[in-house]
Amino acid sequence: MGSLPIPDSRFAHLDEYPMDEAFMIMRDFALDAHPHKISLGAGVYRDNEAKPWILPSVREAEQLIVQDPNTDHEYQPMAGHPPFIPLAQELTFGPLMASLSNRIVSCQTISGTGACHFAFRFISEVTSAKRVWISNPTWGNHHLLWDISAPQVKQQLYPYYNAKTCSLDFEAMIQTLDAEAQPGDIILLHACAHNPTGIDPTPEQWAVIADVCERKQLFPLFDSAYQGFASGDLDQDAYAIRLFAERGFELAVAQSFSKNFGLYGQRVGALHIVVSRSDAVPSTQSHLTKLVRGEFSTAPVHGARIVSRILSDAALRKQWYGDLQVMSSRLKDMRRALYDELRRLGTPGSWEHIVDQIGMFSYTGLNEKQVRRLRDEQHMYMMSSGRASIAGLNTSNVAAAAAAIDAVVRAEKQA
Ligand SMILES: Cc1ncc(COP(=O)(O)O)c(C=O)c1O
Repeated sequence: MGSLPIPDSRFAHLDEYPMDEAFMIMRDFALDAHPHKISLGAGVYRDNEAKPWILPSVREAEQLIVQDPNTDHEYQPMAGHPPFIPLAQELTFGPLMASLSNRIVSCQTISGTGACHFAFRFISEVTSAKRVWISNPTWGNHHLLWDISAPQVKQQLYPYYNAKTCSLDFEAMIQTLDAEAQPGDIILLHACAHNPTGIDPTPEQWAVIADVCERKQLFPLFDSAYQGFASGDLDQDAYAIRLFAERGFELAVAQSFSKNFGLYGQRVGALHIVVSRSDAVPSTQSHLTKLVRGEFSTAPVHGARIVSRILSDAALRKQWYGDLQVMSSRLKDMRRALYDELRRLGTPGSWEHIVDQIGMFSYTGLNEKQVRRLRDEQHMYMMSSGRASIAGLNTSNVAAAAAAIDAVVRAEKQA
């Protein structure tokens, strides 16, 4: 039998899509053979030995699950693992559940990314929204997610970060929304620990943001990827969501359990939609279920089981609160240690923002050139925007990290 001629490929015309920067940094870091290299690129928690940390509450819950004779591998209902959904709702809305429970529609998602994807797709499909307002800057994946989930919705940027002061550009944010947002537009807000800046509005500023959303009839969509991980306090980190819910907004929350349970690879998440009338619940639920059915049919169960086990067991829940403290306190300590070391070295510039920011990331204020020098000359890796993952710092490398920053800042000053 003669071999067939190789046909032209239908795919040959495709341009290569650039690799995500965070993953590119991880690859470059892995290839760097320097013994004292430092990774501040990946948005994942590391312990003081620079190792992944399995939360003790998670380890214990997993053992209980494995030993439980009732554990099976059956399909879950389309809305998700049944015990998981009310627990995820309660974590987000806390005491408001008493008044909201008959107006929340939820489904389990493929982590926070999947929750964003569903939220973007669903809200744009069922409302007449033509535009979404996104903070400048934001988590880079938000843009791609909108492109893929709802390409017909125009992405508009609202000012968020003032590079001169390394702080929130609050006035510009409100002015822009007031001047340019249109009724029916969506606004994407980070519930806490804004990625990449680590800068959150104060409670007073959140009230003003809620005012402008009300005035302009915007639909608030919260990305909640760091509840409990940011401050160590679940209620504090849900403040903005609850403020909006209490004020009567219809809104959506894309919830991730990656960081606060350290369940990155398990892909545990939920999408919650608060509707203003309980008679809108069944039809809204049916549309979410349709999305689930058409994308992954039923959600993965193991991670949702771990979360449910922890949240429904008083002792495990208490242990988890302690685990959140361990992570959030270590990050705060590392911010302080980096700041103190930069001050001790007399590094030119003002570095207070490092301690003022919150969560996994610091927007260091370092520019692209400095970041490149850090990589090439100091073997220290971070995003080209100057975003550093504080979780990559530990008591063994923080002095070296500060010295590296000091060296590139001084070198630029002398040039
Ligand atoms: C702002 C923000 N949203 C959502 C996510 C989604 O994370 P995951 O899909 O791992 O839950 C992340 C993770 O880095 C994030 O920073």
